[in-house]
Amino acid sequence: MQDKINEIERQVDESVKDVTSSKSLQEIKLKFLGKTGKISELMKNMRDVPPEQRPSMGKLLNALRQWTEEKFSSLEALIKDAELKKKYEIEKIDVTLPAKRAPEGAYHPNTLVRNELISIFSGMGFEVFEGPEIENDYYNFTALNTPADHPARDMQDTFYLSQDLLLRTQTSAGQIRYMENKKPPLKVLSPGKVYRSDDDATHSPMFSQMEGLVVDKGITLCDLKGMLDEFAKKIFGTEIKTRLRPSYFPFTEPSVEVDVSCSECGGKGCRLCKGTGWIEVLGAGMVNRRVLEVCGVDPDIYSGFAFGMGIERIAMLKYGINNMKFLFEGDTRLLKQFKA
Ligand code: DAH
Repeated sequence: MQDKINEIERQVDESVKDVTSSKSLQEIKLKFLGKTGKISELMKNMRDVPPEQRPSMGKLLNALRQWTEEKFSSLEALIKDAELKKKYEIEKIDVTLPAKRAPEGAYHPNTLVRNELISIFSGMGFEVFEGPEIENDYYNFTALNTPADHPARDMQDTFYLSQDLLLRTQTSAGQIRYMENKKPPLKVLSPGKVYRSDDDATHSPMFSQMEGLVVDKGITLCDLKGMLDEFAKKIFGTEIKTRLRPSYFPFTEPSVEVDVSCSECGGKGCRLCKGTGWIEVLGAGMVNRRVLEVCGVDPDIYSGFAFGMGIERIAMLKYGINNMKFLFEGDTRLLKQFKA
């Protein structure tokens, strides 16, 4: 028996000699100390040992088991320690290294103009309301005094989704939705995307507009002109002048088109303003009585003005962009120039 014990001790020493991982150590441990391991087998064989020899044999075997267990646990501690050190080494972080910089984006000129407009007009007490991009015929046209057979419908090439549903051609639709739910006095700004079947250097099938509406007692065209002067100075600079030209929109009466003095030549006439010294920036007018009526506002008590401008157009003028397509291509070389 002593020989067997010596042999097992030798085998234990031999098999753990080159072990470096706790996983393989565990496997080897099972070979000796597991249920069917060599030492356990020896212990099972005690049954066959004559009773008088059992106590001394038992002692020997217990000592062997203890020796083996201790051997494995001290080895295990060593190996685990080494493994942990290795892991720390691999995962080491140098907190003094400078961080990698994430490339910084910039706001799109459209967003810049939209935000600036919102900031200018909220300073004048306007609130923002955004209507849906899919509109029905009523809000986009009929309620804006443009019934089905009205020739003004031809001013805007419309994308129809069904007999009644369409992609809104103008943010003016928001005027109606807003007025249906709010009673005057009111001042609202309605930005958003609009859609028309139109495509060239100055037109895109999708573009953005900013609508404004003011309704109160005693509002006149002078209020509109005064507010537009203020707006133009804030967005284009204090030198800028505005002028109103008579125009036609079904939902305003009278209707005007608003020009600003050309920022390029200061009004002398150049290529940008086609020699006129003026550049058209928006449509506006006094809200038509019929529009107030359909929204339940009494036109004998209240009056109002409205205006609508193309955000891309303002961005092109403000930043000197000569082709509207640049605003839709997402070319980062253009966008980078607008970093704050
Ligand atoms: N909705 C018009 C368009 O898209 C622009 C416009 C003109 C809006 C006059 C207005 C307005 O609110 O009063 O061409």
